[in-house]
Amino acid sequence: MRRLNIIFLGFGRMGQAAYASLNEITHSLRQEGIDPSLLAVLEADQTLLRELPARTGAKPVFVDTSAPKPLPLDRLLGCELGLGAGDEFLVYDATPSSWHRDNLVSICGAYPRALYFGEKPLFTDRAGLSALERFGSRVLCDFVDSESAAVRKLIAMVQGGFRIRRLGFWRLNSAGLHKLASPLHRAGVEGGALLDKGIHDFALAAILMQQQAIPPAGWRVEAAADLAFMPRPAESLVPDADGRTDAAGYARIRWLASGGVDSEFHYSWIGVDRFDDLSIRLGHPSLRQLLATCGLQENAWLCRELSPRSSYSSYSPEAQEARIAIVDGDDLHGENGTAHRTRLIINLLTRPGIHPFVFDPVRREFLELPETGSTPLSRVLAFAVRSYVNRQPLSLAPLGAAVIHQAHQACFDIRDHARLNQGLGPEPGDLRAPVDQSQGIVQA
Ligand SMILES: NC(=O)c1ccc[n+]([C@@H]2O[C@H](COP(=O)([O-])OP(=O)(O)OC[C@H]3O[C@@H](n4cnc5c(N)ncnc54)[C@H](O)[C@@H]3O)[C@@H](O)[C@H]2O)c1
Repeated sequence: MRRLNIIFLGFGRMGQAAYASLNEITHSLRQEGIDPSLLAVLEADQTLLRELPARTGAKPVFVDTSAPKPLPLDRLLGCELGLGAGDEFLVYDATPSSWHRDNLVSICGAYPRALYFGEKPLFTDRAGLSALERFGSRVLCDFVDSESAAVRKLIAMVQGGFRIRRLGFWRLNSAGLHKLASPLHRAGVEGGALLDKGIHDFALAAILMQQQAIPPAGWRVEAAADLAFMPRPAESLVPDADGRTDAAGYARIRWLASGGVDSEFHYSWIGVDRFDDLSIRLGHPSLRQLLATCGLQENAWLCRELSPRSSYSSYSPEAQEARIAIVDGDDLHGENGTAHRTRLIINLLTRPGIHPFVFDPVRREFLELPETGSTPLSRVLAFAVRSYVNRQPLSLAPLGAAVIHQAHQACFDIRDHARLNQGLGPEPGDLRAPVDQSQGIVQA
């Protein structure tokens, strides 16, 4: 039995979900001769830390994030756990994104045999890309999306002969409305809707395109209305006459790839209703209408939640979230052996009452999804453990650093371009690489 020590960084929502996943996969890994063992959990919250031994049996380690000079992570691991440069262990990072780059560099720099596994590793400036370039072969990153049932179905279809011609993504929620209502408490998300939400779909497009061996080409920002790229709080803008500020972002982006495949991304933080209004005003179709024409009513794909902040009624009291992909393609195994054009509607959102699906609008039916019996997070965690123990090359795996690098690079190019167009100048402190105009990045 090969024992693998695992260390969790952060035990909030995702850290706890990962702990449940670890318990879920332990039995099957042991049957394969791998014994995953949670050695320690590092946490910044002292209350949470006190509960940890009873809940996990792992050693709790306090990370003093309020210290003027917090102890670097590698030194903390050395002092508290006695780890040395020759040790092998897997780190699962579920801290807020502002810590990801430092954690990655600290682990990979000091422990050349360790694996850094990121929970949606998110970098808000280009320095994160340099870290990935330097340590990419020991970094496994994931947005979990590639393991959702609907995406697995789509990947299986592509592998079975379905040819993607066009991808359209809509990722909409109303987080921006709350930030608008309470601008001084805009915490948590860094990098705006583009980095927090858009990046999931950029990564997914890259994963799907790689299934067809089509290298992505250039970006085209067709509309980035009203500062979809939320600047930092200090640069926050006063709401305009419509009550929209930087948080009320809306963007429409196209990714032009060779081989006749285009991807189009729409994302916003203004909820589905307001997004639809704005889309129509800008001459684009309403997502709700588009799906209704295909025979899909919104109770299947639109998550609505009454917000506790309903006093901000002028900014819509409801939290709304939708995550839809529309995939146009050729089914190469159509009737009579001929290829025929087809369209699929994918729901990528999983919320109570809202389930992922792949819908065929011509046949008006939901396709059968692969039986998984486990959560996407369990599958990616098991993948990380197996890859590491079996010493498989990581950089090109679907969850390897290549996809995350590509998705971040696209985000930074788009953000820089949009900031310049909005007269905001480059992102402060960013090591900005010049945008390659030959890639045809334009803003309408
Ligand atoms: N893949 C996904 O779909 C998905 C979904 C939600 C969140 N996330 C990502 O997961 C990460 C964590 O999100 P969450 O919702 O669990 O947040 P959370 O706030 O619930 O948990 C974060 C925890 O990290 C602790 N912490 C903060 N700084 C720390 C440090 N330096 N070292 C150790 N612990 C520290 C906090 O005390 C907190 O308990 C974020 O980066 C988020 O973007 C990904």
